[in-house]
Amino acid sequence: TVTRREDYAPPPFWIDSVDLSFDLDPAKTRVLNRMRVRRNPDVPAQPLRLDGEELNLARVLVNGQGTSFKMDAGQLVLENLPAGSEPVELEIFTTCAPAKNTRLMGLYVSEGTFFTQCEAEGFRRITYFLDRPDVMASYTVTLRADKAAYPVLLSNGNLVAQGELEDGRHWAQWVDPHKKPCYLFALVAGKLVAREQRIRSRAGTEHLLQVYVRPGDLDKTEHAMHSLMAAIAWDEARFGLPLDLERFMIVATSDFNMGAMENKGLNIFNTKFVLANAATATDADYANIESVVAHEYFHNWTGNRVTCRDWFQLSLKEGLTVFRDQEFSQDMAGSPSARAVKRIEDVRVLRTAQFPEDAGPMAHPVRPDSYIEINNFYTVTIYEKGAEVVRMMQTLVGREGFDAGMKLYFARHDGQAVTCEDFAQAIADANPASALARHLPQFKRWYSQAGTPRVRAQGAWDAAARSYTLTLTQSCPPTPGQPHKEPFVIPIELGLLDAAGHALPLQLAGEDAPHGTTRTLVLTEPSQSFTFVDIDAAPVPSLLRGFSTPVILEDEASDAQLLTLLAHDTDPFNRWEAGQRLVLRAAIAAIATSALQTSASGPLDAQILPTSLVQALREVLRHPQLDAAFKELVLTLPAESYIAEQLDEVDPQRVHAVREAMRLQLALALQADWQWAWEQHQTPGAYRPDPVCAGRRALSNLALHMLCLAAQHQGDQVWPGKAYQRVKTATNMSERFGALSALVASGHELAAPALERFHALFKDEPLVIDKWFALQASAPDRGGQVLPIVRRLLQHPDFHLTNPNRARSLIFSYCMNNPGAFHRADAAGYQFWSERVLALDAINPQVAARLARALDRWKKLAEPWRSAAREALARVAAKSELSADVREVVGRALAEE
Ligand code: ARG
Ligand code: ZN
Repeated sequence: TVTRREDYAPPPFWIDSVDLSFDLDPAKTRVLNRMRVRRNPDVPAQPLRLDGEELNLARVLVNGQGTSFKMDAGQLVLENLPAGSEPVELEIFTTCAPAKNTRLMGLYVSEGTFFTQCEAEGFRRITYFLDRPDVMASYTVTLRADKAAYPVLLSNGNLVAQGELEDGRHWAQWVDPHKKPCYLFALVAGKLVAREQRIRSRAGTEHLLQVYVRPGDLDKTEHAMHSLMAAIAWDEARFGLPLDLERFMIVATSDFNMGAMENKGLNIFNTKFVLANAATATDADYANIESVVAHEYFHNWTGNRVTCRDWFQLSLKEGLTVFRDQEFSQDMAGSPSARAVKRIEDVRVLRTAQFPEDAGPMAHPVRPDSYIEINNFYTVTIYEKGAEVVRMMQTLVGREGFDAGMKLYFARHDGQAVTCEDFAQAIADANPASALARHLPQFKRWYSQAGTPRVRAQGAWDAAARSYTLTLTQSCPPTPGQPHKEPFVIPIELGLLDAAGHALPLQLAGEDAPHGTTRTLVLTEPSQSFTFVDIDAAPVPSLLRGFSTPVILEDEASDAQLLTLLAHDTDPFNRWEAGQRLVLRAAIAAIATSALQTSASGPLDAQILPTSLVQALREVLRHPQLDAAFKELVLTLPAESYIAEQLDEVDPQRVHAVREAMRLQLALALQADWQWAWEQHQTPGAYRPDPVCAGRRALSNLALHMLCLAAQHQGDQVWPGKAYQRVKTATNMSERFGALSALVASGHELAAPALERFHALFKDEPLVIDKWFALQASAPDRGGQVLPIVRRLLQHPDFHLTNPNRARSLIFSYCMNNPGAFHRADAAGYQFWSERVLALDAINPQVAARLARALDRWKKLAEPWRSAAREALARVAAKSELSADVREVVGRALAEE
């Protein structure tokens, strides 16, 4: 059934308080739920309908008395509650089976420990409730369990009492001092140990921080704890938002559908985003942990104190919180160039994942209008595009104006469940003279219209008038259900360079003086012209600096102009972008003209990148001032999926062959430079995950990868030998995994023994074994060898389909991160995909529905892939016992639009 935003109605009842008692048992957990319920006086009287799913109902009492009730479409319906506004004591007794809960929604068991996941609609799998975010209640929770098996008993808020019971059981009672929607409820019970830290806030209050993990993982919790402390300090310093709890807990589990969850005072995390030490985690893992720990912590205000009225408003908390974690990570990175590196990485995610989503069958606005399964809408559009919408607001009101807007938002809405409109209104109202306030109704189209807008830029220099006129034209392609779009508010940050690459002062016609060398124009009309005066020669425009708006920019920059930007632009984002665009141009030209194919012997030795570009890339690599991390980004080729998005019709094998050939070309043409880069960027001494060291390791890993590729092509053994040595002796995972990846990516025969060695070293580290699976599943395909390897790995004793991380590491890596291997002309990749979607769907529909999206862009494929993909989708859609999750995804993919 479809849920629509326009059908929102306030709840007919409020739940003021909830008293939950759990007798925890994996096979049969007993839940006693005592609620104080009262009618919402603003709504006409109606029956109370409580949500429930997979519950066994034993008893319902109203004010201590038995009552009549009925079941309707899974809901528990009470029609005879007393009239009037007096609160009613409602008591519901149910049982559930956590050990059988393979969906990992509601209460489940992971490695002998109880966990919960309630967002979005998992609480109804624990007890009957008004499972909607605008119903906020006070919670008291009593947990009872066997003491030996479950020594630690946790829930939200403060531990107020605990004690022993007979038969070796014990109990603990928790009271959450803050009202909350039920999606923020959590409990944990099991054998866990904690790293603890006491902190004092700026205001002088004391707090206890705890990171709970399984015994044996305590040595991997330092970085998470430091990240949490940094996040707490940052939110107080940047936004004046303090920690509002005496105790703040993070608990890690290896069975988790997503990254992490911001339950009030009791965040539950995928181990992937908590556990790290030098031996097991890469630099990227360290950075991800910092950002996810901060993200969940920041939800404490943006999400928990102010929450969502309904799930259509999901981006209210997710877009804003991603924006906040991005800002935090930039501040933690420190230097301007390290900040730019973070921005480039974020934009890369947006463009390789969100832009395709916005152009495909699952396209939806940042604030969707309808859904079948809300879990399908935890998307890059809600999260990453939502964050860009918040970033544009900050751009339009300035950083201080944005901080003032946040203050007003909390002053107005603390303790409430609100909408995306409420947020935009607060930011605008705090900045009445801003471009945001002037264009607010139009700006809000970013919430209501799906699709990635295109901006065409045409520049004309007038020699006689010594002026330069830039004409910007916007449009947005149709998306499912939205054939026609109205113009957006588009902030374009820009600069102008002269031919030698110097920044020009920017003075618009009508102004009496220049305003700096970089500034923001606001495009609101379908087409608008801006004239800069005092321009002596045709300038090189640097448009959309810092990626100021999530649009596709189409300008007529010549190769020479892009080379100027790559060599000289002061905006690091556009400098990187110029290089990427030049590579893309060369790739697209090669895809259009050549019939390259990779073979079992490796990529073709072809000159795809022009010499001028190779030389420009060499200069970046050898540049005396640029950071290693930035160089690594410039010298990394755009992903196959991103190249494919630029084409009208995609032959995935050609895209793969061309990218492989470009990779080999760079390896061979810059061989001496890679050797230099390798030698210059070693990081001896104790491992430190800071951005400078991480950047050096990223660049030296890329160099090693290139050197192995060249060596493999030339039949030389020196570099593969060095890489193999490193796999054996490295003292940190970044270097060890970099070396292993270099061997696998170059297809060298040492890859096999290196993989074997690596597995033996880390057989007891699940997160490292995930990397081991993922690396093999995403290896470059040479003659179709990857799919048989993946099928063989499915039978590996370490492979478990029920564990989401493991399923993702093998199956998702192959189907979603390895287009060259997945899009086989014989359709065997698609066959594999449909089998795995169905197998996963029987276990965990949420995870299955993610995998189902691997064929989102099938309509863009050339034949024979297109027909084969349609058949595979139809095969899945034909199953009668499909979950709503997967049905929504394949249904949309197959819909005629
Ligand atoms: N709110 C969590 C976060 O972004 C994500 C939880 C999503 N869970 C789900 N079952 N869809 O931090
Ligand atoms: Zn979030």
